[in-house]
Parts: sequence; structure tokens; C-alpha cells
Amino acid sequence: MDRTEELKAKIRALKEKLSVTVVAHFYQRDEVFEMGDITGDSLELARRTQADDSEFVVFCGVGFMGESVKVLSPEKRVVMPKIACCAMARMIDSLYFDESVQAMEAAGIPKAEILPITYINSSAAVKAKVGQMGGMVCTSSNAKKIIETALKEGKKILFVPDRCLGQNIANMMGLASAVIGIDENLGEADIICYDGFCSVHQLFTVDDIRFYRKKYPGILIAVHPECDPAIVSEADFTGSTSQLIKYIADLPEEQKVAVGTEFNLVNRLRSKNTYVLSSTKPECPTMNETTLEDLYATLKAIDDGEPINEIHVDDETRVWAKTALERMMAL
Ligand code: 13P
Ligand code: SF4
Repeated sequence: MDRTEELKAKIRALKEKLSVTVVAHFYQRDEVFEMGDITGDSLELARRTQADDSEFVVFCGVGFMGESVKVLSPEKRVVMPKIACCAMARMIDSLYFDESVQAMEAAGIPKAEILPITYINSSAAVKAKVGQMGGMVCTSSNAKKIIETALKEGKKILFVPDRCLGQNIANMMGLASAVIGIDENLGEADIICYDGFCSVHQLFTVDDIRFYRKKYPGILIAVHPECDPAIVSEADFTGSTSQLIKYIADLPEEQKVAVGTEFNLVNRLRSKNTYVLSSTKPECPTMNETTLEDLYATLKAIDDGEPINEIHVDDETRVWAKTALERMMAL
């Protein structure tokens, strides 16, 4: 038996023995993804893990995802084979959040008129700031719905940390957006975005789209909303990871489609005439940090009675971050 098969067998045996649920995001390496009891996009993982009743959640994903489980279900013990931090989530902290509010105030928007929304790709501390100001969390699959609901309060939206997602939703809804530190017209915009982005989704270019359209006339282009607005505006479909999978699964077998999102997910869809929309392999470095060896070591540590890489969130942060997450869940 090779090492991969040996590890898989050991992991399966420990999963049988222990009260654990292994959770894996779509961007995980194939062999890790295969070990998941719960798999999905970030919204599905947050929902389904909350309803799970194992003592330990072993979360294969990036830091904010494990943290969100702990925030929603503090009674659960959440461990992560690798506490890898999403590069976009790392672009904003509490201090930068406060500075963004100040930038809006300086542009003539009073604090009471600001409703913050944070993409789930952010720390619990940022979610807590958002919760304290009456705001909520969104994911890529529900961002449009969350923003529609938020706008009913008649306030200006401060959208953090992904400027692309904020701009893409604004474009989809025919609203004006502006980016803090880049655009000067903050006061005239409906959605004011923080200047964060995902380096993986920035790899897709308009040239890539042109290349595929020329090479395979009739090909469809499907992208994640973390891609630049210039890409999204030229795509045939934009959706979260789950929405992309469903869109591609529903296409006729012979339909070619080039997909703009993380490599591991796209590679799993190859049989469906699917192409990676980039000449550079779009691998998320942090999602790919988690290996089978890490997963095995994490389960073994639980079995030995000495869990490693446990996620903790302090009470005050947890309460406000939970408020922001639950406002999203309620919708
Ligand atoms: P989903 O919400 O589509 O799972 O995306 C999470 C993510 O990190 C995309 O880069
Ligand atoms: Fe974060 Fe981008 Fe990786 Fe998603 S693909 S986890 S946004 S760095």
C-alpha cells in the first residue's frame, strides 16, 4: 500500500473510532477533500457544521472558516489540521476597519448612516466590529440578497474586505460603487468597498477569456465573483463555488466551459469539457497547505487525548461576530 492509501485507511479508522466530523471546502486537495464528511462552499459548511453533533469538528479549510464554526457553536471543539489564513481575510483587521469608517465620515457620511457588510472571508474580530455597528456577514452565494436586504435600511453600505465582490454586486444591481483610497467620490456611491482582493482570483485576465473564445467558438466562461469586474462583465455566468458546480453539471456533455476559480475545484470537473481559465495554475496557497499527513496527525492527537490546533475565540468577539453571522443565517 502506498503512503497516501495507508494514510487514508488510518484516517478512516480514526473517524470510525472518534466523535469527529471532518469538514472540507471545495478548494482542498483531492485526497483531503475525499476524507470530508461534510463538503461544500463556505455558506453550506457554516450551516451544515452548525447542525452536526460530533464533539470535534476537524476543519480542512482556511482560518476564518474554522473560526466561524466556533463562533456559531461555541460548545463544539474545532480543530484545524493547518490554521492557514486566507490572504484576503488577512488584508483587513479591526484597525483598518475603523479607518475605513473614518474615511467614509471624512467623505461626509455620518457613522449612523453606515451599514457594514463583511464577506465571510474575514476574521472574527472584523465580523464583531460589523456586528456592533448593526451589520452582517455575507458569502459569495448570498451577497446579492444580503446587500438587497441591507439597502432597505436606506444607509450607505461599507463592504469589506473584497472590493471585487462589492463592485460586482453593485454592477449586477445597477448601483454605484467606490473603493476607499482609490476613488474620490465615496459620498456619491451606494456601496463603498474596502480595497482587499483575492490574489488567486486576480490571475484570470480578459486576455484569457479572449484566448478561449477564439480557440473554442461557443465556449462558455463561468467565474467566481471574487474575479475582477472586467472579467465578470465578460463572463457568461458568475457564481459561488457551489453555484459554479451546479451550472457546469447542468450543461450538455458536449458544451465546453472555461472556469475562473481555484484549481482543485476545476480539476475535479474536468470530465465535463471543462478548462482552467488561466495559463497560470490558480492554486490557493493557503487552502493547499492542508495535507493528508496533517489530517492524520490532527485525528491522532484527538485519539491521544491531546488535541492540537484548537480554535478559540474570546467571548466578547464571539458574541458580536455571532450576531453578524446570525443576521446572515436568518436570511
Ligand atoms: P465560496 O463562498 O464560494 O465557498 O468561496 C470561498 C472562497 O474563499 C473563494 O475564494
Ligand atoms: Fe482566500 Fe482567495 Fe484562497 Fe479563497 S482562494 S481562501 S479568497 S486566498
